[in-house]
Amino acid sequence: MIKTIAVIEGDDAAPEAMKPVVSLLESLNIGLEFVYPEVGEIAEEKTGSVFPDEAKAIIDRADTTFFGSTSGKSGASLMYLRWGKETYANVRPCVYIPGCASPLANPEGIDFAIVRENLEDLYVGVEGPLEDLAPLSLSGRNIRQPIHELGKGRYAIKAITEEGTERVVRFSFELARKRAKTREGSPKVTSTQKHNMLRQSDGLFLDIATEVAKDYTDVEFETYIVDDFACRLIREPQKYDVIVMPNLYGDILSDAAGGLVGSLGLAASGIYGDHYAYFEPAHGTAPDIAGQNIINPTAALLTSTMMLEYLGFSHEAEKIEKAVFRVFAEGAVLTPDQGGNATTTEFIDAVGSAL
Ligand code: IPM
Ligand code: MG
Repeated sequence: MIKTIAVIEGDDAAPEAMKPVVSLLESLNIGLEFVYPEVGEIAEEKTGSVFPDEAKAIIDRADTTFFGSTSGKSGASLMYLRWGKETYANVRPCVYIPGCASPLANPEGIDFAIVRENLEDLYVGVEGPLEDLAPLSLSGRNIRQPIHELGKGRYAIKAITEEGTERVVRFSFELARKRAKTREGSPKVTSTQKHNMLRQSDGLFLDIATEVAKDYTDVEFETYIVDDFACRLIREPQKYDVIVMPNLYGDILSDAAGGLVGSLGLAASGIYGDHYAYFEPAHGTAPDIAGQNIINPTAALLTSTMMLEYLGFSHEAEKIEKAVFRVFAEGAVLTPDQGGNATTTEFIDAVGSAL
């Protein structure tokens, strides 16, 4: 059966990683069809919209979307892939690849996945002037005067819902069960949030996680306050399996996790909802190296393996992953962020040969 993948190559250096990965996927000859919705500046010039209906329709018809990082006008399509498609679980694995440029003395065995809640928290985008809150006359636990009397300023709303938390936490437990089939050690879910300070919002996140954990007695459950947890994650990253958290902490800690294995150039992500999923390297667009053909395509490659898995091509996913590991283990052809001097093309070619 043919599977259709909508490809949005992204901005700056992102297309330089995306294009060769798509070529590699094409060369597998497993019936993948690639379609290219026009978004961002190109679409704006032609249609007046950065995200025209036609692009949306192509995404809707496709089985999934493979998305390069965005810095600019293609951002509207990313927001559609998130809120339009209700993709609530942003899975960002962090795996030590032997041979990668980890700054740690003992990086062996790092293999965890951050599950970032993808739609709520401070990312609902409700912000404004503090004075707009005057009619509500809100005071807080730590301030006596109504918030709008604090001074001239702005507010942002952090929203944590019961339903939004429950589904991402359940997803995390299911993921831990799945991972347990191929991974050493017993499955564990760690939830992290700032429930000591944000007693209502993050307190709810923790309460729901604790409640859901009762349905998964085969999976260990533990929880930490997020600042303390950030330190633990750096000190003993091997201790973790699946780590679930609200949106903002997930955004920050998943980039930090990239540092554990040398760079965001290795950071893959798959973002799942109940009816759609899209796949995106978790690094940015790397404008500083755009046009040089040196961006590390590992993140895009590992992201593509998550996508293949989702589409039902587990065997091919595993093959690509093994090939990437082999190129790292040999160490002869690595991109500059990993201490080598190979170009993106040379790295991909090496992976192709290893396949
Ligand atoms: C990410 C990015 C995005 C986010 C930006 C580009 C909006 O940082 O995917 O982590 O904050 O979610
Ligand atoms: Mg981010």
